[in-house]
Amino acid sequence: MSSPFKRIGVLGAGAMGRGIVQLYSQAGFEVVLHDAQAAAMEAAIKYLQQTFDKLVEKGRMTDDARQQALARVTCADSMQGFADCDLVIEAIIERIEVKREVFCTLESVVSSEAILVSNTSSLSITAIAAACERPSLIAGYHFFNPVPLMKVVEVVRAPRTDDAVVERLVALTRAVGHTPVVCQDTPGFIVNHAGRGFGTESLKALGEGVADVPTIDRILREQVDFGGMGFKLGPFELMDLTGLDVSHLVMESIYHQYYEEPRFRPSVIGAQRVSAGLFGRKTREGFYRYDGSPAPSESGAPVAPTGLRVWVAPGAQQQAVRELVAGLGASLDDADQPLSDSLIVVTPLGLDATSAAQGLDAARVIALDTLFPFGLRACKRRVLMSTPATSSETRKAAHGLFAADGAKVSLLRDSSGFIAQRVIAMIVSVATEIAQQRIASPEDIDSAVRIGLGYPVGPLTMGDMIGPARILEVLNGMHRSSDDPRYRAGPWLRRRAQLGLSLLQED
Ligand SMILES: NC(=O)c1ccc[n+]([C@@H]2O[C@H](COP(=O)([O-])OP(=O)(O)OC[C@H]3O[C@@H](n4cnc5c(N)ncnc54)[C@H](O)[C@@H]3O)[C@@H](O)[C@H]2O)c1
Repeated sequence: MSSPFKRIGVLGAGAMGRGIVQLYSQAGFEVVLHDAQAAAMEAAIKYLQQTFDKLVEKGRMTDDARQQALARVTCADSMQGFADCDLVIEAIIERIEVKREVFCTLESVVSSEAILVSNTSSLSITAIAAACERPSLIAGYHFFNPVPLMKVVEVVRAPRTDDAVVERLVALTRAVGHTPVVCQDTPGFIVNHAGRGFGTESLKALGEGVADVPTIDRILREQVDFGGMGFKLGPFELMDLTGLDVSHLVMESIYHQYYEEPRFRPSVIGAQRVSAGLFGRKTREGFYRYDGSPAPSESGAPVAPTGLRVWVAPGAQQQAVRELVAGLGASLDDADQPLSDSLIVVTPLGLDATSAAQGLDAARVIALDTLFPFGLRACKRRVLMSTPATSSETRKAAHGLFAADGAKVSLLRDSSGFIAQRVIAMIVSVATEIAQQRIASPEDIDSAVRIGLGYPVGPLTMGDMIGPARILEVLNGMHRSSDDPRYRAGPWLRRRAQLGLSLLQED
């Protein structure tokens, strides 16, 4: 393993800088901190003292370790203070012209072997390095907030970055117990690039009127199930937490940086809500209100009519759905074609209920999402979708039936792909494109997204758990029925689905 660094400089004492100082000083490294604002440095030192005090109180740090960690941090009046550092981590304002200038100054201060890295979230490392005399010693080093708790760091390789620089940053990251993920210098690196599927597709479905905000959030929190784990927050809850002013800007930035790639096309809803100042928690109103008003409630399920008979359309899940229906107390219609008064259940993948209802009496058709476990007492939430012709009696009867074992039920308007199908397929689609472009290894894509975004499993593992062929079927269905190129499946996914390989399989 390459040698660790002896003295680490941190430029910028804001939210990220102070977290980085905490991480390295606690791990035993000498750290020099500088910020253009003396007050910011003072505040950072106070923050460190308070944080270490709390750790000592909780018994997670000894008093001695606290003293030593604090003694390892020095503040410098100017960038000259970095002269003896063999690594400087820049975490200042996100403006390219300021960063370029600062990197030139840093180069003139440090030794000719010192490594300079930027914690930028959205700027090009290549563009920062281009202004420098030693671009081979410059890389991106992207932490997540809060630094000590978010245990993943993107090590960003620009075209002229030395391999040895990447190796040393990887070793340093491991030395402090974080997971390093190596990626090429591309817009959004791994995490902000891969994170586009979740919110963007949810906004697209909202824009189509498929369901309202709380329904989409509930589905993604409660229907999605990867080995018992789901998303901790729905997409709109998450956007309210991050702030739509930040999230929408990232969506627009990635979309434009990838030359208007349709997969990343942001929603007009996002732009409009940003103009209205509905940023989320920070403005006390976003997709939800944070002024003490009650959270939106969900209406209870009606009682299923007695004597209900159900015909289940042929398909891969026909037998499992028939078992469920029988377990829920309805009788089964075993005829080849539905009898005249049977409720008709279809199970489309990527298609809408209308397409699945072709040749059937659409007034009696209801679609059930079978992407995640849906069996008797085996799921928290089932999701149904109706055609524009489905009668209200059919909707009510199906709602009552599929809630009869205590599962919650969400009812969608017609959509090419149910909410979970659309969102999960897009998350997998974007991640497979990142793999195809060799921005990072499949393993690094998976760990970066799982740790950085708190997903239950990485996006490629999500695809493997559902099955690459099923994800492909969802995307192909959505693409065919919408004609929208955002749903086109890329070659990484298509080839692995065709060959029956894992999405983690490199070639
Ligand atoms: N906040 C996050 O969640 C997050 C996550 C990952 C990466 N980042 C990136 O980290 C960097 C810093 O973000 P932050 O949230 O800590 O910002 P911040 O506003 O909290 O702190 C920035 C600090 O930099 C100082 N500064 C500005 N210009 C300077 C200069 N020319 N020289 C010295 N100091 C200067 C400011 O005084 C301030 O204390 C940005 O590039 C941002 O994109 C932020």
